[in-house]
Amino acid sequence: MDKNFYITTPIYYPSAKPHMGHAYSSIIADFFARFKKIDGYDVYFLTGTDEHGLKIQRAAEKKNVEPLKFCNEISQTFKDLSKTLNLSNTDFIRTTEERHKNSVQKLWNKLEQNDDIYLSKYSGWYSVSDEAFYNEDEIVEENGKKLAKSSKSPVEWMDEESFFFRLSKWEKSLLKYYKENPNFIQPNARKNEVISFVESGLKDLSISRKSFSWGIKVPNNDNHVIYVWLDALTNYISALGYPDTNSELFKKFWPASIHLIGKDILRFHAVYWPAFLLAAGIELPKKIYGHGWILSDDEKMSKSKGNILDPLEIIQKYGLDPLRYYLIKEVSFGNDGNISKERLEDCINSDLANNYGNLCQRTISFATKNCENRIPKEINFIDEDRLILDNFTSNIDNIRSQIDNQNINYYIDFIVNSLFAANKYFNDQEPWKKKDDPIRLNTIIYTTLEIIRKISFMLYPIIPEISLKALKIFNIKEDQINLDSIAQHDYLNLGDKINNIGILINKIEKNKENV
Ligand code: MSP
Repeated sequence: MDKNFYITTPIYYPSAKPHMGHAYSSIIADFFARFKKIDGYDVYFLTGTDEHGLKIQRAAEKKNVEPLKFCNEISQTFKDLSKTLNLSNTDFIRTTEERHKNSVQKLWNKLEQNDDIYLSKYSGWYSVSDEAFYNEDEIVEENGKKLAKSSKSPVEWMDEESFFFRLSKWEKSLLKYYKENPNFIQPNARKNEVISFVESGLKDLSISRKSFSWGIKVPNNDNHVIYVWLDALTNYISALGYPDTNSELFKKFWPASIHLIGKDILRFHAVYWPAFLLAAGIELPKKIYGHGWILSDDEKMSKSKGNILDPLEIIQKYGLDPLRYYLIKEVSFGNDGNISKERLEDCINSDLANNYGNLCQRTISFATKNCENRIPKEINFIDEDRLILDNFTSNIDNIRSQIDNQNINYYIDFIVNSLFAANKYFNDQEPWKKKDDPIRLNTIIYTTLEIIRKISFMLYPIIPEISLKALKIFNIKEDQINLDSIAQHDYLNLGDKINNIGILINKIEKNKENV
């Protein structure tokens, strides 16, 4: 079986410093990457920055610096954020790197050779903020200003010579591909939007600009730079060494298992990107998943709206893992989600501190007192123990397939329910009343410790630092975490030493004010 997994985040515009929406995409991608890693996959996890185009050129001009210098600085803040978010990314690509520029020009050549590019003139609406062309019916007028209906960003009229990609030629092939690969675009509701957009008729796409210079030059034509989306999308293959499709990396990881993106950039990924690939004779990625938005006061966060939540501030105050847990749990995956400090505090207190932290602490303190700081030496499982342990065994394949369908909500519910069940088990079994039945007492402690191990393994993709801290109880290291062993009930060695790790998660003193 193919045990390679290639996941990507969108590459971010370094036009302003990162915000919570960027952090969200990256954290979710990291969750999948870590899950696959502990399931024995060889994982390639790519993120990076999208540095060309008019939007960046203008942002640099505003600051009066050279675009590359401007990008170097902000791209670094995205790189730093990937460390701060504890991302397990394999690579961080910048579109200003030579490896990428070469790839994009080679892809252009390929499209040209295949007669998918021609020179003409573009007259129409363009949004610099979205770096997107819009048809007349996609424009609204508000307070005398022309805006793109979908994003509400201002559009300007563009009238210039441009190279075009024969997108219309690929309309039928795309529709056929969507039909034959029903999971290619997810979630389903978004797939339907894409299909109706393509069914309504595709026009050829302008793929070069002449009126500014910040971009990758069109091969053999220095007057044009390549459209920033053709440039940016190519990152997914330039990182693997395209045009060398025979390289180890390319053969191993292409086609990508999943491009994780925000719903705002679905059209580029689900229409343009597959069309470019079809035209170049390159296999298509297996899945495009468009997640929802993180909302602040019911609106998408954006610089122009001034409602940006700074992930760094939240992390400084609450810690990284609580933020990761909160975003993964509270934003129902695939949908938009509002975030608030109050809900974040609730999550830390109820799920992390009460449910998980307390379970660990009271079990350890019991084991410390009654089993001399060791995993019990003699045990004898009865039905109640097997029942709670078997719930993991019997669900493991289901969990794998839920994750393959990006059902993060199922995964997190399973964990929360398991934590409730474990706390209930411990209470119901009343180990404190079993002092004169040491085998029973030992078995309850063993069972609970084993559940803590299993849940900590499952929590690792969500809250890696806290999970690793909990696993210190058993001296289990990161490279020993594996999903298969969740199905195993006798993983913990009888009589091994355990460590008292102290408080796992501190509770938050609640205050009422929202972020
Ligand atoms: N550069 C392009 C992507 C090119 S990919 C080949 C781009 N960059 S971006 O910085 O504007 O946004 C990138 C992604 O950040 C969005 O698609 C989305 O995944 C994420 N988010 C930005 N704002 C967001 C929210 N408010 N909520 C959730 N995610 C959003 O588009």
